[in-house]
Amino acid sequence: MSQVILIQGSLNKDSRTAVLIQHAEEELKRAGLEVSVLDLRNLHMEFCDGRSLKEYHPDMQQAYRAIDEAPAFVMGMPVYCYSVSGPLKNFIDIISGAMEKKIAGILCNAGGKGSYMASADLSQILAFESHVTTVQPVVFSSYEDYEGQTLVSEKTNSKIREMVNNLARQLNHSS
Ligand SMILES: Cc1cc2nc3c(=O)[nH]c(=O)nc-3n(C[C@H](O)[C@H](O)[C@H](O)COP(=O)(O)O)c2cc1C
Repeated sequence: MSQVILIQGSLNKDSRTAVLIQHAEEELKRAGLEVSVLDLRNLHMEFCDGRSLKEYHPDMQQAYRAIDEAPAFVMGMPVYCYSVSGPLKNFIDIISGAMEKKIAGILCNAGGKGSYMASADLSQILAFESHVTTVQPVVFSSYEDYEGQTLVSEKTNSKIREMVNNLARQLNHSS
């Protein structure tokens, strides 16, 4: 069983949210935690319409179980229209029950720096719907932090390390 599930929320084949997830995965492993990645690009996802979980594709049921069994998760969100992207919100709508009372870290990736507050929408959804405790700092990156698919910002890398250390501390504290 994984201690931390990393949820990669972009469907873009050249996703930079996926780059943040990869960096966080390495840091979590360095901290000695068991991790696994749930990449939305690899799931068969249907639109949420309020049916029960067992009526969705088996991929969604498996995703639900994996998150349900882990005490913590890290969510990578791409910013669309100053908020959580539609596909990621749809995923949350289907599996929010599995996130109940977990500890979570947020990785937020946008085009421009002006969208840094978009992650507040995700914090709010996680807190209000699933009573999730979000660890600080929220990691934010934008176009200028990358060269191609390489994260070149030391500030962003250091925030990832800080978030992972705080997540690991919270996990140890609660176990
Ligand atoms: C539909 C759409 C809406 C977007 N809206 C915003 C926005 O409001 N603010 C912003 O800074 N970037 C916006 N972007 C840019 C994305 O945040 C950016 O491309 C980011 O890299 C997406 O993450 P990804 O590379 O993991 O897919 C938007 C992109 C798309 C496709």
